[in-house]
Amino acid sequence: MKIISVVAAKPNFMKIAPFIRAIEEFNYEHKNTLSHILVHTGQHYDIRMSESFFKELSIPEPDINLEIGSGSHAEQLGYTMIAFEKVLLEHKPDWVVVVGDVNATLSCSVTAKRLNVKVCHIEAGLRSGDMSMPEEINRLVTDRISDLLLTPDIISSANLRSEGTPDHKIAFVGNIMIDTLEDNREIAASKTLDNIINNNLLQGSNFRGALPADNSYVVMTLHRPSNVDLEQVFVPLIEFLLNEVTNDFTLIWPIHPRAKKQLKAFGLWERVLGNDSIILLEPVGYREMLRLNMGAKMMLTDSGGLQEECCILGTPCLTLRWNTERPVTLREFGGASVLVGNNIDRIREEYHIAVLQDRKPIRPELWDGKTAERCLQEILKRS
Ligand code: UD1
Repeated sequence: MKIISVVAAKPNFMKIAPFIRAIEEFNYEHKNTLSHILVHTGQHYDIRMSESFFKELSIPEPDINLEIGSGSHAEQLGYTMIAFEKVLLEHKPDWVVVVGDVNATLSCSVTAKRLNVKVCHIEAGLRSGDMSMPEEINRLVTDRISDLLLTPDIISSANLRSEGTPDHKIAFVGNIMIDTLEDNREIAASKTLDNIINNNLLQGSNFRGALPADNSYVVMTLHRPSNVDLEQVFVPLIEFLLNEVTNDFTLIWPIHPRAKKQLKAFGLWERVLGNDSIILLEPVGYREMLRLNMGAKMMLTDSGGLQEECCILGTPCLTLRWNTERPVTLREFGGASVLVGNNIDRIREEYHIAVLQDRKPIRPELWDGKTAERCLQEILKRS
């Protein structure tokens, strides 16, 4: 049997690493009966956004890199479909495995189905209900046409059923990201904050403040257009950080290229750079982020994956969005995260609550570090 799996952007790498390991283990026991090809579309191409994760997570070099790069969404989708069709025609796989909700998830699943290749979606059934998010459209289209939908939690399975997906296509396997978290947890814990900060200081930063200790810093990540592209949203948020949060804590901010560009566009760059309680970092490695998360007093983020990791690590998390496709991570479901959107009064209120909270790790059902094995078994059952 031949499987092609696809990666494109940073959050995909932690999801594909354990899946590839499951294939390798299967092949070790079954005399290499599975043939596997890894395709990287090249959406994320900077060393710090891509290559470093391959090394750190022991993902083999991609067999094929489509080198799509940046561009408008239509460009990314279109160029990926054209290039991926050629790959499918040449290699004729039995299955295409896509993960998550990035542009390649949509373009590669559609291309595969048009050529009658079976599609398996890992992390299926997530729904934010927010059609202004490109990721929501990617999820909806991919799930509608996939042959096998592997869900991380029972809410996601229920979402699929309520949309009419037949039961035989759905399998609840747990959260594959947590396989990677468990594999890397020990090594991450052994890293020191000082090393992480010194090795990743943003180019051009001449940070002279004191290095923080555990529990005396807040970590922030922001990359969604809905937070960083609009001046009326981004500027008040930065003012809140500069005037309030940084009076209480050091803020460690591994900065996404889009957020950096927008700070400059809105004339905030020099003030953020010059604040000795803000440590701006280049995008950091997987284990470094895990270690930062482990010692953080609080996480401020608009990332989906970090909401999940905060759950397992117990870090109080303010999710800077009005909705989430991962309700299982929310406080009302026992998780560590609370939705605060981008309203400063609401963010402030929840910030003061989170300051008083202790770590409370929780582990949703089947987030046990063994999801990749179950994913592969579900594919094999249907082959
Ligand atoms: C993509 C995913 C998003 C995911 C995020 C993680 C989609 C629709 N979005 O968004 O779901 O949460 O990745 O980061 O697929 N850039 C670089 N270097 C790179 C890659 C991009 O500088 O290696 C710049 C691009 O030039 C662009 C910006 O970063 O200006 C955004 O990149 P893009 O890949 O379009 O989307 P993300 O916002 O990263």
